[in-house]
Amino acid sequence: MNITEDIKYIGVSDGATDLFEGQYSIPNGITYNSYIILDEMCAVMDSVDAAFGSEWISNLKAVLGARVPDYLIVQHMEPDHSASIIDFIREYPTAKIVASRAAFAMMRGFFCNDFADRQVVVTEGDTLSLGRHTLQFLTAPMVHWPEVIMTYDVTDRVLFSADGFGRFGSACEDEPWADEARRYYIGIVGKYGKQVEAVLKKAGALDIEIIAPLHGPVLTHDLGLYLGLYSKWASYTPEERGVTVAYASVYGNTAKAAVALYEELKARGERVTLFDLARCDVHEAIASAFRFDRLVLAAPTYNADVFPAMKHYILGLVERGFTKRTVGLIENGSWAPRAAAVMKGMLAESKDITFTEGTVKITSALNSETKAALSALADELCK
Ligand code: FEO
Repeated sequence: MNITEDIKYIGVSDGATDLFEGQYSIPNGITYNSYIILDEMCAVMDSVDAAFGSEWISNLKAVLGARVPDYLIVQHMEPDHSASIIDFIREYPTAKIVASRAAFAMMRGFFCNDFADRQVVVTEGDTLSLGRHTLQFLTAPMVHWPEVIMTYDVTDRVLFSADGFGRFGSACEDEPWADEARRYYIGIVGKYGKQVEAVLKKAGALDIEIIAPLHGPVLTHDLGLYLGLYSKWASYTPEERGVTVAYASVYGNTAKAAVALYEELKARGERVTLFDLARCDVHEAIASAFRFDRLVLAAPTYNADVFPAMKHYILGLVERGFTKRTVGLIENGSWAPRAAAVMKGMLAESKDITFTEGTVKITSALNSETKAALSALADELCK
């Protein structure tokens, strides 16, 4: 696949892994993108996951033929992009490796070798000329690891954005982007909003025509749309008005309350998502909470605490910097209910959370009083 006349795609597609990074479900797979820039000098952008090393080298050879690449540019050392560096070195022992100093230190950790005889260390603003193409490097610490660099091809105006602008699923640009890019971003990079904002600021100063990430499609048009979404995600600004209703339930009574609220909100014309935290993809539920401006948590008391699936969910929100949202609470307890207090306490670490005045307290099962309280909560959320 040609990205531009001189830049070719040589990535691979992983349809076998069930959990990316050991926790994110990828029903539509994921791609490990790699590119080659053909010029007087030839540069390869990143390697791929260990399981695809030989396929990647074959892709590389199919483009290069007998030609030997001059550089392997390593933007990110997470193994989904770095594990096949070893295959590359074996195949091309004369090629140099271009990376940040921190990346070379990580190579020592991963491979017991920092390739001192072939290192080209780069940092912010450094350039590398391939002939017609000039590459300019940007540091992007914590997007998504500390050693990350991004690379701007000044000649073709392509930003190689490492994990930034990545998406689960295929490399097809025509497939919907936002939902799976949001789930990827919030899950993997969400904690590092400030660092993403710093990179977006640098990117704003560049004339970018194409964004070439390490996962998902190469973005060739409507770049303002993607940059706008990243700007919202990085600043934790709700993307749009809407309510996420996330619940956990033991015998179905808390579930009935959550569904009743969901229906009440829909009847009021709200955009609402509903998640059973014991069964859903929790990372989709987390991404939904970051997408919308309001969240309702409904859970039973359990062991004088809150039900474990809810605890896991709130932990997932807080550790990713959940903030700037309105939160409503529904608790259930047959005796000594504690769930609402625990949920509120867990969210104390999140800044700028506004709790609704009404907390719905269910004693075992819904009754006319708690049904009325749910209606009142729906009213308050829709104010
Ligand atoms: Fe796709 Fe942070 O690796």
